[in-house]
Amino acid sequence: MYVSIFLPWLLTIPFLVHSSPDQQPKGLLINCGSDVKQTVKETGLTYIPDDGFTFSGNKTSLDAKNLLPILSTLRYFPDKVARKYCYTFQAIKGSKYLVRTIYYYGGFDGGKEPPVFDQIVGGTKWSVVNTTEDYANGLSSYYEIILVAHIKTLSVCIARNNQTVSSPFISAIEVISLDDSMYNSTDLGAYALVTVARSSFGNEDTISFPEDPYYRLWQPFKDDSTDVVSSQSSITTSEFWNKPPAKAFATAITMSTTKKLDVQWPPGLLPSTRYHVSLYFRDDRNSKTNTWRVFSILVNGKTFYSNLNVTTDGVTVYAPNWPLSGKTLISLIPDTKSSIAPLINAGEIYQLMPLSGRTLPQDVMAMEELARGFDNPPLDWSGDPCLPRENSWTGVSCSQEKMPRIIALQLTNLGLTGILAPTVNNLTALHHLWLGDNQISGSIPEMNSVDQLETLHLESNNFTGPIPKSLATLQYLREIFLQHNKLDGPIPQELQGRKGLHIL
Ligand SMILES: *[C@@H]1O[C@H](CO)[C@@H](O)[C@H](O)[C@H]1NC(C)=O
Ligand SMILES: *[C@@H]1O[C@H](CO)[C@@H](O)[C@H](O)[C@H]1NC(C)=O
Ligand SMILES: *[C@@H]1O[C@H](CO)[C@@H](O)[C@H](O)[C@H]1NC(C)=O
Ligand SMILES: *[C@@H]1O[C@H](CO)[C@@H](O)[C@H](O)[C@H]1NC(C)=O
Ligand SMILES: *[C@@H]1O[C@H](CO)[C@@H](O)[C@H](O)[C@H]1NC(C)=O
Ligand SMILES: *[C@@H]1O[C@H](CO)[C@@H](O)[C@H](O)[C@H]1NC(C)=O
Ligand SMILES: *[C@@H]1O[C@H](CO)[C@@H](O)[C@H](O)[C@H]1NC(C)=O
Repeated sequence: MYVSIFLPWLLTIPFLVHSSPDQQPKGLLINCGSDVKQTVKETGLTYIPDDGFTFSGNKTSLDAKNLLPILSTLRYFPDKVARKYCYTFQAIKGSKYLVRTIYYYGGFDGGKEPPVFDQIVGGTKWSVVNTTEDYANGLSSYYEIILVAHIKTLSVCIARNNQTVSSPFISAIEVISLDDSMYNSTDLGAYALVTVARSSFGNEDTISFPEDPYYRLWQPFKDDSTDVVSSQSSITTSEFWNKPPAKAFATAITMSTTKKLDVQWPPGLLPSTRYHVSLYFRDDRNSKTNTWRVFSILVNGKTFYSNLNVTTDGVTVYAPNWPLSGKTLISLIPDTKSSIAPLINAGEIYQLMPLSGRTLPQDVMAMEELARGFDNPPLDWSGDPCLPRENSWTGVSCSQEKMPRIIALQLTNLGLTGILAPTVNNLTALHHLWLGDNQISGSIPEMNSVDQLETLHLESNNFTGPIPKSLATLQYLREIFLQHNKLDGPIPQELQGRKGLHIL
């Protein structure tokens, strides 16, 4: 189970960011269900419509007044047959991204409670989307994940699960490009990082864009038993791998006297698993002082870092793979020789989410081409073709390998028009191709590389042209059905009379 104990968003502008209109985070800000490009007045951030990123679903808007513009339109997915509904974004292979999905139900379908459904990144189920409680409290919800693009696209999908009673929906998606050094202590080839909390201690407001150019949200965190201190002097944070905003070092919580500082953070209960934890500290005093702020950090009683010497330049300590469960208590214990109380400025905590793999890229590219060849591919033909297994593309069967391959396509009688793209020849693990009873036109492509092929059903379509001779080289073929097409020419000699081959 993956939880986010992030604060939900208000329905109107939750905080004021002062960005000039031409300043935008590097990435895509998408207002789902909108018809127009729109600049949110209060933040200066421009959101674009979601057309072109998805080809399923229907748009609608909510009539509530004064809603944040990105919440006032949404896309919903009434089709019950599709196994997932995907958004696909161009990405740079190997680059790192922060993806934020935002949901506000608003009773768009006349119901009282929002539907509960799944969200997926690439081939991995990310989490359940349950906005029931936030919605009951008049709030929107958001989820965040940090991941690397392993191919040239990034896909974010939602899908029905066995709890889903009405149409899944989405209000906005933000895909922000991060720098290489950020979160590089985590093996992002094997994991994604699900945001649990990102806090600015002692702050009054959320830190956001443009103070954080990566449009991360640093939410205020206070604790009744601690004091707040702040410092005005500037600080350089570019040397910190995670590139925290300088503003996150401007305030801190501390104790009034030199004693242990205990803070329960993040405030909720965490599922028992592994986390990336980064903590940020900075001495707020004048740098000319000759007393040092030295303390040790314990997390749930276990030493996280000993004798940290916090200077005015700021310092971060992190653990890329730290086990946590239930409540989390951060204790800062002053060094016996130190007369200065400990303090903490900011923290980030992410749940490590193991990636479940992805379809072999060669097969993904071939399938994407195949989808483009059809005029009307099934609605769920985007995102990863094989994974998650319960959300594979309609009609696609895959092998059980860690990097699954396409082994069969069963697309009989789906009303398909368009052509059969020549890249079918790149699906070199394919055993069965059933395309009968559609209206596919054009010629039958070469299939000499599909050398595992056993059955080829192209009957009752609009195929024209000759029967490729190369079919004869496929040694495992035992069934070729080509009848009821508009093909020309003879059946290649080599195929006729081959033993154990059934030709129609
Ligand atoms: C959703 O859009 C599809 C295709 O544009 C349309 O056929 C269908 O009637 C729409 N469904 C609803 C519930 O509006
Ligand atoms: C969704 O969340 C609400 C409130 O937390 C909970 O009562 C409900 O059981 C959840 N629904 C599902 C299907 O998990
Ligand atoms: C619903 O799906 C979940 C997750 O796949 C599974 O654990 C659960 O047993 C299913 N419940 C029912 C009633 O099918
Ligand atoms: C993370 O990036 C920084 C800055 O580029 C680099 O110095 C460091 O070695 C990297 N760390 C890992 C674990 O790759
Ligand atoms: C803390 O760091 C400062 C500056 O680097 C150094 O001068 C000082 O000796 C250090 N103090 C301790 C106790 O390590
Ligand atoms: C199909 O395979 C050929 C030869 O390996 C390659 O040049 C081509 O780019 C592949 N096409 C796709 C869409 O993957
Ligand atoms: C396929 O052929 C049938 C019968 O000749 C014709 O009515 C139909 O328009 C064709 N469909 C396409 C998509 O070419």
